[in-house]
Amino acid sequence: MNICVIGAGYVGLTLSITLASLDHQIQCVDKDSNKITQLEKGVIPFYEPELDDLLQSSRKNITFTTNISDAVKSSDLIFIAVGTPSRQDGSASLLALYSVLNDLSQNITTFKTIIVKSTVPPGTCEEVHQKLAELGVASHLYVVASNPEFLREGNALHDTLHPDKTVVGIKDGDTTTVPLLKTIYEKIPTPYIITNLTGAELIKYANNYFLATKISFINEMARVSDKFNVEISHIAQGIGLDPRIGKEFLQAGIGYGGSCFPKDLKALQYIAKINQIETPILHAVQQINDTQINLYVEKIKKQLPNLSEKIAVLGVTFKAHTDDTRSSQSIALIQQLATIGYDVNVYDPKGTIPTEIQSMVTQHPSMEDAIKNSHSIILATDWPEFVLLPWKKIKEMMAGSLIVDGRNVWDKNEVESHGFTYIGVGRR
Ligand code: UDX
Repeated sequence: MNICVIGAGYVGLTLSITLASLDHQIQCVDKDSNKITQLEKGVIPFYEPELDDLLQSSRKNITFTTNISDAVKSSDLIFIAVGTPSRQDGSASLLALYSVLNDLSQNITTFKTIIVKSTVPPGTCEEVHQKLAELGVASHLYVVASNPEFLREGNALHDTLHPDKTVVGIKDGDTTTVPLLKTIYEKIPTPYIITNLTGAELIKYANNYFLATKISFINEMARVSDKFNVEISHIAQGIGLDPRIGKEFLQAGIGYGGSCFPKDLKALQYIAKINQIETPILHAVQQINDTQINLYVEKIKKQLPNLSEKIAVLGVTFKAHTDDTRSSQSIALIQQLATIGYDVNVYDPKGTIPTEIQSMVTQHPSMEDAIKNSHSIILATDWPEFVLLPWKKIKEMMAGSLIVDGRNVWDKNEVESHGFTYIGVGRR
């Protein structure tokens, strides 16, 4: 079966390459001609472990194109995986999705199964169905379904090939989409959750909302632990062993970032607001995250009262194993510290400081350069190479002795045994 994937971002490209590796014929479409040119040469436009190798080995099954018209005409199954970024008011922008619908409407002459992969507000897929009709597509020529994506950046391939579930939202009476997807995903065995279109959309939001809630929960408990001189990782372990709670996503630190949690929680809050639904938990989860870096900044200011001293920040990406700095808590922290007046120096193995703050900070090509003569080191992203540091050597390179662990990954006792002052959150 010929498959067309519209959108070559994290979701669309990973899906395209994975399906190609499973011997499906894929046409991956994107409006960005530079991106397509790069992809044709085998260059992935972002850092995602192992994706380039899989592209190389599946190259014969995948073509990259900007020509949506030809791709749609020659495909039976169409995945839409375009971005839905936040608008000013927090709502998800559906501009890219609507633009795709226009393109689709002009190119549907034979039956198409249209699957929305993008994260979209509840009711959007029903609207997609409606809009295609309004744009003149005959109802017997298409069916719309929702099949949200749950992959994590940095683990995209693993998560696509070994998902914990496959969620499919279908319209009443749709008997073809689920069997079709089960055939396409035959080599990816998972439990299926079959629901209506809006149900699938809401599962995606609820999933991210719940994970973000766990993080904000543990960060709030870390604030409590701070006051009572208790080790937060012991609490995480203690509650995590309860199978009703589970041990994942209980790592306290500077908070969550990335292209999904902040955006999706804002979108959900917007939806709740316009529908007059009270969501106090949702509000609290975001509020805790938005204020989490302030805890660190206050502690740093106490330890480094000379507000122009040199600080080295390790990590700018929103988490390890990605070059993505979107809504990165590290960037927010760097911005605050630079605004206060500190001389901020950063290093990241893959990520680059966004252009708008490049004049405020210095990015170095090596960790040593960033650390040299600094009064403090802050760990903002838990890249594996930052976890085991030669503390004795580092002490000799630094001008001061403040260590700030924004991910609670360093051994506090070990760090302190080298004469450093250690700051974390909820550490004993
Ligand atoms: C997330 C969801 O996990 C994924 O299912 C969805 O499809 C997209 O959003 P991603 O944004 O790639 O994936 O990253 P994830 O690994 O979930 O981490 C999100 C943020 O939470 C990161 O900033 C991470 O550092 C932070 N985090 C995660 C914590 O602070 N503590 C934890 O215990 C776990």
